[in-house]
Amino acid sequence: MLIAGNWKMNTDLTGARQLAASVVSAVGTPGAGVDVAVCPPYVSLDAVFTVLHGSAVRLGAQDLHEADSGAFTGAVSAAMLRSVGCHYVIVGHSERRQYFGETDASVGAKVLQARRNRLVPIVCVGETLEERDAGREREVVERQTVAALRDVRLESAADLVIAYEPVWAIGTGRTATPEQAGAMHAFVRTLLRDRFGPESAPGIRILYGGSMKAENAAELLAQPDVDGGLIGGAALKADSFAAIVRAAEAANR
Ligand code: 13P
Repeated sequence: MLIAGNWKMNTDLTGARQLAASVVSAVGTPGAGVDVAVCPPYVSLDAVFTVLHGSAVRLGAQDLHEADSGAFTGAVSAAMLRSVGCHYVIVGHSERRQYFGETDASVGAKVLQARRNRLVPIVCVGETLEERDAGREREVVERQTVAALRDVRLESAADLVIAYEPVWAIGTGRTATPEQAGAMHAFVRTLLRDRFGPESAPGIRILYGGSMKAENAAELLAQPDVDGGLIGGAALKADSFAAIVRAAEAANR
């Protein structure tokens, strides 16, 4: 299990330090098999790393650029993220795809760049409401997953995380039902098996994201292929985030 908080564009430096400190104390020492991470805005990564030091909570970033360095004003490289202590990086979040023009090709390039720099990408896939209503959710998730992972080589299943985030469930309070999440996660698992083989695929974590909170975490995490959560709104309060970590511990995988 992995419970990761995506803070999105929330918290200034002081707020990020405070939230990180509260998360560390609320989460404590997670049970065996449960990993925890927070993904603050870029400007707070360094400071949050200092707060997390010595705790069980790992650091992640929300995006990266696919180039090593150069004239890309405003962008942040994988090496920079490594240098401030990141372990994870979110890639291809639907908000990046929707508002910043990310394409399947750029997501694929970023995933490779993350791996080259020994960052663990949390690769986001998920359909819009329109696509689900048209019965195209599997087609969309397959296209996104295949494109993102096309050239990836894995040494270990722990090198990659997938997050299924149906766009219609993000920030809307409308969560996928456990059955909807379970069915899509099982489908993603078959895609991973096709791509990486039967040895690696079972160990790759597939997170659910989209209005996951303390109240619904247990039933989502009970689904066999739901290996954790990527949490937005509920990650901005240490208590509710820690409650989801407790649900992951209870799910005991
Ligand atoms: P919410 O939990 O706020 O719906 O956000 C989910 C998300 O986008 C995490 O990346």
